[in-house]
Amino acid sequence: MKNQQIVLASTPDFNPNPEHFTLVETDMPEISTEQVLCETQYLSLDPYMRSQIAGRHMSGSIHPGDLMRGETVSKVIESNHADYQKGDLVRTFGNWQTHSVHDAPELSKVNQAIKPASYALSLLGMPGLTAYSGLVWIAEAKAGDTVVIPAATGAVGSTAGQLAKARGCTVVGIVGSDEKGQYALDKLGYDAVINRKTDDLNAKLSEYCPNGIDVYFDLVGGETLNLVCTKLALNARVILCGLMADYNSPERTPGPLPGPIIGARAMLKGLVVYDFEPRRDEFIAACLPLIESGKLAMQEDMAEGIESAPEAFCRLMRGENQGKAIVKIA
Ligand SMILES: NC(=O)c1ccc[n+]([C@@H]2O[C@H](COP(=O)([O-])OP(=O)(O)OC[C@H]3O[C@@H](n4cnc5c(N)ncnc54)[C@H](OP(=O)(O)O)[C@@H]3O)[C@@H](O)[C@H]2O)c1
Repeated sequence: MKNQQIVLASTPDFNPNPEHFTLVETDMPEISTEQVLCETQYLSLDPYMRSQIAGRHMSGSIHPGDLMRGETVSKVIESNHADYQKGDLVRTFGNWQTHSVHDAPELSKVNQAIKPASYALSLLGMPGLTAYSGLVWIAEAKAGDTVVIPAATGAVGSTAGQLAKARGCTVVGIVGSDEKGQYALDKLGYDAVINRKTDDLNAKLSEYCPNGIDVYFDLVGGETLNLVCTKLALNARVILCGLMADYNSPERTPGPLPGPIIGARAMLKGLVVYDFEPRRDEFIAACLPLIESGKLAMQEDMAEGIESAPEAFCRLMRGENQGKAIVKIA
C-alpha cells in the first residue's frame, strides 16, 4: 500500500490549472513513539492555498516540489498515543495526501455533535468560524441592518448570509451566476441578489440598499470594495476578509478612497480567523441550535478521490464551486 500525495509541479502566474500539480506515490509513513497514523477522510480546499502558492500568505509559501497543505478530517488507523484510539475522527493538517503522521498536539478530536463530519471543515469549521467572527463578533450585525455579501453562496459567504438573516438583517448577495443567485434567494434566504457578471452593480446596490450599507463582509476586494465604500451608511462596518478578485493576478487593485469612509464614520477591520481559534467551541455551541432549527446549512461541493483535488481547487479559483469545496478521500 502506498501513500498518494499531490505536490505543486510549477507556480502558476495567473489561474491555476491541473497541470500545475502532480500526483506522486510514496511509501506508507511509519509512526514512532507517541505518534498517530491517520487516513484522510475529507480534505478542505481553500482560496488561501492560492496565496501560499504565490508566496504571499502569512502561513508560509508552497514551492514546486512541495506537498500541498490543507486541513483535513482524518481517521486514526494506528496510534502510539494514549489519547487517540483507532477509529477516532480528528481535525488536523493532514495535507493533500491519503495518509499522514502526527504528534498529538497537531490533532483535535471532531466534536461528535458535528454531523456530517465534513461540517468540521465547512459550516462548523474554519469558514463558519470566519463568518461568525466577522458578522457577529466584529460587525455586531443587528436587526434592521442592511448587509452586503459577495461570494454569497460560497463557504464563508453563505454562512454569513444565513447568520445575518437569523439576526433580522436585510441581506443582499453578490454572485457570479444566475444559478447561484437563485440558490441564494431560494435556499439561503437572501432578500436580493446581484449578478456581478451581468448586472449593473452600482445601480443594483443603490436600488437594494436605499439607506446605505451598514455591513459589508468583503470576501473579494477589487473594484467591488471600492464601489461599496461609496455607498456606506452612517457608522458602517466593513470586514476586510478576502481578495478573491485579486488572488489569480500578480497585480493588486488599488484600495478605496477615504472621503466617503470618513463621511460615513465607517470602521474597516481586517479579519484573520486564526485570532478566533480560542472561541471555536463558543461558535459551534451558538450555531448547533440554528442548524437544528433549519436556519443554517451548508452546501458542500464534494469532489471524490485525491486525484480530483487539483481540478476541484482550480474550479474554486475560477469561481465555479457551488458551496464549500471539499474532497472526499477515503
Ligand atoms: N481572513 C480570513 O481569515 C479568511 C478565512 C477564510 C476565508 N477567507 C477568504 O474568504 C473568501 C471566501 O472564501 P471561501 O472559502 O468561502 O470561498 P468560496 O466563497 O466558497 O469560493 C470563492 C468564491 O469567490 C467568488 N469570486 C468572486 N470574485 C471572484 C473572482 N474574480 N474570481 C473567482 N471567484 C470569485 C466566486 O463566487 P461567485 O462566482 O458567486 O462570485 C467563488 O465561488 C476568500 O477570499 C478567502 O480567502 C479569509
